[in-house]
Amino acid sequence: MPVAVVILAAGQGSRMKSNLPKVLHKVAHAPLLVHAMKSAQTLDAERIVVVTGHGGEAVGKAAQAYDPNAIIVSQDEQLGTAHAVQQSAQALSDFEGDVIVLYGDTPFIQNDTLKAMLDARSKGAGVVVLGFEAQQPGRYGRLITTPDGGLDAIVEAKDATPEQLEITLCNSGVICADRADLFSLIDQVGNDNASGEYYLTDIVGLARSKGAACRAITCSEEETMGVNSRTDLAAADKAFQERMRADALDLGVTMHAPETVFFAYDTHIGRDVEIEANVVFGPAVTIETGALIRAFSHLEGCHVSQGAVVGPYARLRPGAEIGNDARVGNFVEIKAATIGEGAKVNHLSYVGDAIVGDAANIGAGTITCNYDGVFKHQTVIGERAFIGSNSSLVAPVRVGNDAMTGSGSVITEDIPDEALAISRSKQANKPGLALRLMNRLKAAKAAQNKDK
Ligand code: UD1
Ligand code: CA
Repeated sequence: MPVAVVILAAGQGSRMKSNLPKVLHKVAHAPLLVHAMKSAQTLDAERIVVVTGHGGEAVGKAAQAYDPNAIIVSQDEQLGTAHAVQQSAQALSDFEGDVIVLYGDTPFIQNDTLKAMLDARSKGAGVVVLGFEAQQPGRYGRLITTPDGGLDAIVEAKDATPEQLEITLCNSGVICADRADLFSLIDQVGNDNASGEYYLTDIVGLARSKGAACRAITCSEEETMGVNSRTDLAAADKAFQERMRADALDLGVTMHAPETVFFAYDTHIGRDVEIEANVVFGPAVTIETGALIRAFSHLEGCHVSQGAVVGPYARLRPGAEIGNDARVGNFVEIKAATIGEGAKVNHLSYVGDAIVGDAANIGAGTITCNYDGVFKHQTVIGERAFIGSNSSLVAPVRVGNDAMTGSGSVITEDIPDEALAISRSKQANKPGLALRLMNRLKAAKAAQNKDK
């Protein structure tokens, strides 16, 4: 059965106290909305419709940046969750299949859970709702169940009787129904309730009154965690990190102190990778099998190949491409640069906008001077080249294969293959001058002390 997903993302989220629409706040470097879209993608949803309102333009842009096929509809006035879903009716009018409604601020609904809901649908339930046992049921809608395990109605907290408020089985907000049924039920929803809103939750009672069976599927409260405040956002990030770490360990990654390693939503780590303590991954990082990421390294937008060693204290910025068995050592920054197979950049260097050939050795303190204040220029270093310590390579410049630079050189012109370039002032030795100079300084100091 084909599936479409509608993601509600029109709300303001005033408790975030932010100029940014709530669903654009990030967990592990991805907007909350993108996490919800990821859940939809794991179902191979045929269509994803995002309902926008507050900050609609920015929300729509973010949605389409992640999935260009996402359909954006707008809800100009936020009249309630049923009204929000209704805005997607047009976009789904020719869709035949089940529709799942997700919230843009509820990022962690798992694939298995959604599958269980679809499964209940295929077994005949007209409306399937995702519920959870709430520690503090508070303002959640309550699920009214029947003795045979069916779902009879959802009552919003504001409209509930004191007895109904005792119920701890609550509505997560995720609902699934056949497309045609969903929109015809929504058309019958009124707003005669404590909030004066069109409640999506009313479709359960309406379906029951027409004799349809409804079902609640349950998941853990953690999975339905919604984000309403910065505190929630921090808690969501923590929960996400814990899951990513557990997944990485499961996949065969060694971590010395997993609780100090921070992943992005899209970090890819191969098996037998080893990650030391205090490593931070920004977006778009891939680490191939057998690589070692040493302590206190920060990586984003980069690719580390098999057997490479990065860190400790390395920084890989976007466009860093580290070849097989290459070494990037302490206090080294690499940006938009390819480091060839077996090449070494071991200490205190900046390598940006560069190509470093296989087996090249970049001495301590080498800097590629890539920026002239307006333009960026490229440095190309040949295979097996040996760059002397503290060299400045003023780009654009090319160092040939098997070439060398003398330590401390400022290289402004291309170096042919196999040549040695030295570009620094010549050393002059003045015999005895060091001793004479030191004696003169000591005498001056002694004279000064006598005066006091
Ligand atoms: C809703 C449910 C409640 C459930 C709770 C779980 C209804 C009537 N109530 O309550 O049963 O326990 O979620 O968190 O559905 N939104 C729109 N447009 C609107 C209204 C809401 O896009 O007009 C979006 C919000 O941005 C949010 C989501 O829908 O992402 C839920 O809305 P919210 O106002 O938070 O619903 P609750 O009152 O919390
Ligand atoms: Ca809510």
